[in-house]
This record gives sequence, structure tokens and C-alpha cells, in this order.
Amino acid sequence: MKLRLVAILVAGACLAASLAFAEDNAAGRAAEAKATTTCQDCHGPKGDSTVATFPRLNGQQADYIAAQLKNFRDHSRSDPHAQAYMWGMASQLDDSIITELGKYYGGQTPTPPQSGGALAAEGKKLYLSGAPAQNVPACATCHGAHAEGNSIMPRLAGQHADYLKKQLEAFRSTLRENDIMHANTKDMTDSQIEALVSYLAND
Ligand code: HEC
Ligand code: HEC
Repeated sequence: MKLRLVAILVAGACLAASLAFAEDNAAGRAAEAKATTTCQDCHGPKGDSTVATFPRLNGQQADYIAAQLKNFRDHSRSDPHAQAYMWGMASQLDDSIITELGKYYGGQTPTPPQSGGALAAEGKKLYLSGAPAQNVPACATCHGAHAEGNSIMPRLAGQHADYLKKQLEAFRSTLRENDIMHANTKDMTDSQIEALVSYLAND
């Protein structure tokens, strides 16, 4: 009698687990379908976009991707390109697909940065040590020693140069609202932006 009860309980637990698994996979499959039919029109196959207007998503932090999709959906990221391209896209996504889209892109191989030349060497110094005179902190503290990112702090390494430049300018002017990155860029000079981008980006 006892044994039978245990068997029923075990079978029930297995069924519940496999149902939960099937649900997870359904969101995962829906996310992958979305990525390969819709998102890739702009962000490229597996997120490796070839046009600088469209940021690379391959190897981007999953939590950062999810956070940004929610920012587009609730309109708290509202620079002109966010409005024109991503508000409509994100309005169609629910939380479970957003999580899975983050995982899908986060699991793709990132594009390495180019980081060559004198300007890039200057950028590396800024990236690692900051510039106290312009209140520029060391980026590595948050974005990681190799600009690989961490959770809601984005990977910067290997991103398109023009996209990175535009984002730093948008934080500086508050066109893209973020208290942390506004403070980090408000006194940043154009040549510091050029140097940082030269170190981080891959055209
Ligand atoms: C019609 C073109 C287009 C499509 C389709 C599109 N995006 Fe975007 N996406 C953009 C542009 C442009 C930006 C940059 C917005 C900006 O400059 O603020 C962007 C930005 C993003 C960002 C922020 C990246 C970062 O580094 O901050 C994420 C995440 C993102 N898109 C995910 C997606 C996902 C997921 C889909 C599919 C559901 C998708 N996009 C479909 C054009 C597009
Ligand atoms: C205290 C932590 C912190 C420091 C230091 C920091 N950042 Fe950030 N950065 C963030 C966060 C958080 C975000 C995400 C902002 C958002 O959600 O819109 C971000 C976003 C960015 C983005 C946008 C990337 C994208 O894909 O759209 C760029 C570019 C960037 N940071 C560059 C830098 C540079 C260059 C430095 C050094 C001068 C730096 N950051 C220092 C926390 C930091």
C-alpha cells in the first residue's frame, strides 16, 4: 500500500516536471522562431548584424537583453531609434519570450573587438583606469576586464563602432536615459569617445 502511494507520488512529480519542461521549451522554441524570422531581418543571423544601426546581440548578456526589451516595451528607453525600431517589436513580446530571447542571443559566439593602433591603446588606458579630470570612471569596474559585460551591464567588446559612439553621445545628452551612464559621460570629450570606441569596437 505504502509502496503504491510512493509510486503514485513519484509518477505525479515526474509528470509535473515534464509539463514544466515542455512549457519552457515552448517559450524557447517561440523565441528561436522569432529570432530567425523577425529579429534577424535587422540584427542578422544569430545576432551578428552587419549594419552599424543595428547593434550586435551575439554573446550579449542575457539579463541585459531582457532588461532592454522591457525598457523598449515600457518606453523608458526612448531615443529616436529605440522608438522607431524597437517599441513596436517589444510590444509583441511577453516576459517568458523575452527571457528566452536573452538566453538565445547570450548563448551565441560573440564577435571579437579589433583593438588595433595608437588610438585603441589610448582607449584601453581610459577603459581600465578612467580619467578623473572629466569624471570618467574605469569602465572595467562594471563592464568587465575584457568588456564582456555582467548581467544587466552590457558586453561592449566587438560591438559596432558607430552604434557605441551614438550610445555614448546619447547618454551624455540624456537622449538615452540612464543615471549611471549619464554621470559617466556628462563631461566626456569627443576624443575620449573616439578612443574608447576604437579600443572596444569591431566595425
Ligand atoms: C526593423 C529593424 C529591427 C528589428 C526587426 C529588430 N530590431 Fe532590435 N534594434 C533595432 C535598432 C535600430 C536598435 C538600436 C536602438 C537604439 O539605437 O537605441 C535595436 C536594439 C535592440 C536591443 C538593444 C541592444 C543594445 O545593445 O542595447 C535589443 C536587445 C534588441 N534590439 C532585440 C531585438 C529582438 C529580440 C528583436 C526581435 C523580436 C529585434 N530586436 C528586432 C532594430 C531592429
Ligand atoms: C557603475 C557601473 C558602470 C560603469 C563604471 C560604466 N558603465 Fe556603461 N553601462 C552601465 C549600465 C548599468 C548600462 C546599461 C544602461 C541601460 O540600462 O540603459 C551601461 C551601458 C553602457 C553602454 C550601452 C551599450 C549598448 O549595448 O547599448 C555603453 C556604450 C557603455 N555603457 C559604455 C561605458 C564606458 C565606455 C564606460 C567607461 C567610461 C562605462 N560604460 C562605465 C554601467 C556602467
